[in-house]
Amino acid sequence: MTPEADTSLVAAECAKNGAAAISAINCPQSLPGVDIYNGGKPKYPTTANQAFAGLCGPWIRPLAYRHVAQMAIKLPNLQIAAGGGLTNWRQSVEMIMYGATTLTYCTVLYHRGFEALAELAAGLRQFVIEQGYKNVLDCRGAALRYIVTPERVEYIPSLPEIDLEKCTGCGFCVRPAHCEVLELRDGKATVVYPDKCTACSVCYWLCPHDAIRMIENERAAAI
Ligand SMILES: Cc1cc2nc3c(=O)[nH]c(=O)nc-3n(C[C@H](O)[C@H](O)[C@H](O)COP(=O)(O)O)c2cc1C
Repeated sequence: MTPEADTSLVAAECAKNGAAAISAINCPQSLPGVDIYNGGKPKYPTTANQAFAGLCGPWIRPLAYRHVAQMAIKLPNLQIAAGGGLTNWRQSVEMIMYGATTLTYCTVLYHRGFEALAELAAGLRQFVIEQGYKNVLDCRGAALRYIVTPERVEYIPSLPEIDLEKCTGCGFCVRPAHCEVLELRDGKATVVYPDKCTACSVCYWLCPHDAIRMIENERAAAI
């Protein structure tokens, strides 16, 4: 099923009319870049022009998660063969936790060959054993209970904590214009205005050295 429509609406109609399962998300329509030194001609080496064509691979994975989750929330009993950007077993588990009942892979096989499937299966099997699940579908839909509408997202009051061993003073974390919490002092990221922290976590995501973790405010006060 194309992701160009309201997939949960289309899936509901399909189910109502007897579909045993839905396979999604296929490819969202896209356009590649163009040859800017050749009047905007297509970059495809073997076409004279181009259509709005499908985008596949890792770039579409978050979109696929969203569509699959929306269908699983609306139609919990619908079988969903879910794919789009899956490249490893961890992402495969994520997709199951968002509601997949079967997984599909395409681009990863072009990049890594069919050998990739053995690695995916081994990773999934190991995960199931380690986590004590009966089978891989035991965790189906586990992540759906955390999905809320934007106004219901709850922020946990938190502060960044800097691991001074890991911090290189690169300054990535002090760049965001909206944040005054962190400054570079003596070549290290330092929390200078803790009261201004909104727990947005941008510093945490930006740090290329894994030197920032977000700790809950009460714990931050105790340190
Ligand atoms: C080279 C190529 C050819 C494809 N051909 C088809 C096709 O004929 N019919 C179809 O429904 N999807 C086709 N797809 C889409 C894939 O089945 C898949 O839904 C999509 O690529 C997203 O998954 P992926 O990110 O794992 O590749 C094709 C994808 C690729 C990369």
